Amino acid sequence: MTIPQSQQIGNVKHLVAVKNLKVHFQVTDRIVRAVDGVDFHVNPAECVGIVGESGSGKSTLVRAVSRLMPNLRVKELSGDVQFEGRDVLKMSEGDLRELRRSRGFSMIFQDPLGYLNPTHRVGRQIAEALSPHGNVQSDSQRVQSLLEEAGFQEPNNVARSFPHELSGGMRQRVMIAIALARDPKLLFADEPTTALDSTVQLQVLQTLYRLHKERNMAVVIITHDLGVVAELCDRVYVMQTGKVVETADSVDLFERPKHTYSARLVELSAHRSSFRGAQYE
Ligand SMILES: Nc1ncnc2c1ncn2[C@@H]1O[C@H](COP(=O)(O)OP(=O)(O)OP(=O)(O)O)[C@@H](O)[C@H]1O
Ligand SMILES: [Mg+2]
Repeated sequence: MTIPQSQQIGNVKHLVAVKNLKVHFQVTDRIVRAVDGVDFHVNPAECVGIVGESGSGKSTLVRAVSRLMPNLRVKELSGDVQFEGRDVLKMSEGDLRELRRSRGFSMIFQDPLGYLNPTHRVGRQIAEALSPHGNVQSDSQRVQSLLEEAGFQEPNNVARSFPHELSGGMRQRVMIAIALARDPKLLFADEPTTALDSTVQLQVLQTLYRLHKERNMAVVIITHDLGVVAELCDRVYVMQTGKVVETADSVDLFERPKHTYSARLVELSAHRSSFRGAQYE
């Protein structure tokens, strides 16, 4: 894609650079400052974690950065969000579509069923992601290889299935295959394994980690589990009530949290983490 000069602003060293992002919602007679002046960046091929308690603004941050924000109730959306130097918040719908189509960013969510079409077979949905206006039939080789990359050993059977015929872990792998279809430089994963049981969680996280390494793909992962961050991520942002209260290398955060809130999260996760010491692929 040719980038108009006018959109190349600021620091293009980072893949994503966010300055002073604010997302405020009007909820009845109250303003909810879901994201309140956040600075955030992601480097190419980096794995970044976002942690923080429920309601701290993690999903809102990622949705605003990827322009997946419902306009409903948004009172203020301001700040500077750049993807490779292009201004994401001011980008036209057409440029945004182009960014998603060609090596931009993709997203996976906690609830894959909500994003899959229940009436279409999985293979068709992946083929549509590969080429929205293309020949669905001719893409079957690429569909198969994406399913293999996402960890399926029998991709042909999966491609013929409907979403409801698959387990939760398999559906998330299908979402991963769809997300990979455009060869994104960055994958946002918003609690991708929270709804899965712990063995399947580990397998799906292993797959994400392998793809991050093999494809040199940056990953931003939202999780409640600091153990996951310590194992997978290079850096971590800790959010509390709409603000980033600490950002650090993930190992440093785990060993020497500076903010009292981060220290509490570390202490909590030390008691319940299932991933520390786990071997990733
Ligand atoms: N569309 C919306 N309209 C009104 N308020 C919203 C909207 N989306 C989020 N909020 C509010 O913004 C705040 C942050 O929500 P958000 O979903 O970003 O938190 P989170 O850190 O992702 O939480 P969780 O860990 O539970 O997923 C919450 O108070 C939430 O109720
Ligand atoms: Mg969330």
